[in-house]
Amino acid sequence: MAESITITDNRSGETIEIPIVDGGVSADEWRKLLPGIWFHDEGFMTTAVTESSITYIDGDAGRLEYRGYPIAELAEKSTYLEVAYLLLHGELPTNEQLDAWVHEITYHTFIHENVRKRFLEGFHYDAHPMGILVSAVAALSTFYPEAKHIFDPEVRYKQIIRLIAKMPTLAAAAHRFSVGMPFVYPDNSLPFAANFLSMMWKTAEPRFEADPALSRAVDVLFILHADHEQNCSTTAMRVVGSSHADPYSACAAAAAALYGPRHGGANEAVIRMLLEIGSMENVTEFVKSVKEGHGRLQGFGHRVYKNYDPRAKIVRQIAEDVFAVTGKNPLLDIALKLEEVALADDYFLSRKLYPNVDFFTGLIYQAMGFPMEMFPVLFAIPRTAGWLSHWAEMLDQDTKLARPRQLYVGQLERQYKPIDQR
Ligand code: ACO
Repeated sequence: MAESITITDNRSGETIEIPIVDGGVSADEWRKLLPGIWFHDEGFMTTAVTESSITYIDGDAGRLEYRGYPIAELAEKSTYLEVAYLLLHGELPTNEQLDAWVHEITYHTFIHENVRKRFLEGFHYDAHPMGILVSAVAALSTFYPEAKHIFDPEVRYKQIIRLIAKMPTLAAAAHRFSVGMPFVYPDNSLPFAANFLSMMWKTAEPRFEADPALSRAVDVLFILHADHEQNCSTTAMRVVGSSHADPYSACAAAAAALYGPRHGGANEAVIRMLLEIGSMENVTEFVKSVKEGHGRLQGFGHRVYKNYDPRAKIVRQIAEDVFAVTGKNPLLDIALKLEEVALADDYFLSRKLYPNVDFFTGLIYQAMGFPMEMFPVLFAIPRTAGWLSHWAEMLDQDTKLARPRQLYVGQLERQYKPIDQR
């Protein structure tokens, strides 16, 4: 059977055969036969915007791989910084490479004093930490003006290091500021996740050492959130990056995309839903109302996964490890009952609705003491590695400026009327 499709323009009878390559057909070929006829594809439901060799997802099979390595194996055996290296470089590092990489990241965690004193402290006292983060990342481009030389390999690499390294510092600073606590400087003797927890929670003690089980849990959650191919925020990064803006500006756009409740805010929605359900006795009634069309089961379903989200399985285990230290989140029983009821119900099974990664992450973060406003911030920290990997891949592919077309449906050639005649 030929691996191609044939398109006929019924107006002219002209035909074109387009090969199917790697599961896609080239729009360039289409354009040759049908110039000026655009695909109407809102939300890019049917559009592959690029070739990429970073992350592979098979939604039907529930498969997720970074550079060919299954997510479960990375979550079990690797660390976030090693995974960040893998995403960016395409290969796992050797010992020396990893040491150098971790050293570089660790020694770029500090932020310029003016970012903290003049910039962060300028926000209103109750500013949302994600709003602070988005603005602070954008502001970094003014502190590192050389960042615009995106085709200079050394300059590019330096900004990648800076962004991955400074994200936890900015994130923790945003939280501390929003709750009126003093800023905590990075402690570069600590590993990446432990350092972040120190910047979050340190009070008067000379050195804050998080429980190792909690540091590891955060590190694994960072691995799980490090990349997810062409999601909304990564697409924002690519679109802004395609104009050859500096990486701080592009990353700020990506973080802004993640701010929205349809993308980075789902785990908060899960917590709000569980609070609304209130007790295990109400679960069956709640599921019934969802089936009757009153809202959705938050943390269930996924645009790509039509099977159990492979990350959700890992997150369930992390939840147990965390609750062993923090005590069980009282909302857990409701969540487990909800999962049990939904997974036994044909409504959810027939629509292939399974728990996604966010079903349990909110419970974990909440048990660890993170306020809900920090949930998208916790997502942005590790996703920075993914954003930057796609950005660098795009620049190396010499991609065109992202500039879609539209189907104009408005009025044409109207005559301007003076205001007193309208
Ligand atoms: N609860 C109940 N019904 C649902 C749910 C849900 N969570 N998700 C989808 N459905 C139903 C829809 O009502 C629809 O039913 P119908 O065919 O009878 O009309 C069917 O399943 C298909 O739904 P779509 O909206 O077409 O699926 P889509 O792929 O567009 O939606 C999405 C994916 C947005 C994630 C959806 O499942 C949802 O809203 N889930 C809840 C929010 C959530 O958890 N988001 C986090 C995603 S993970 C992440 O971003 C990190």
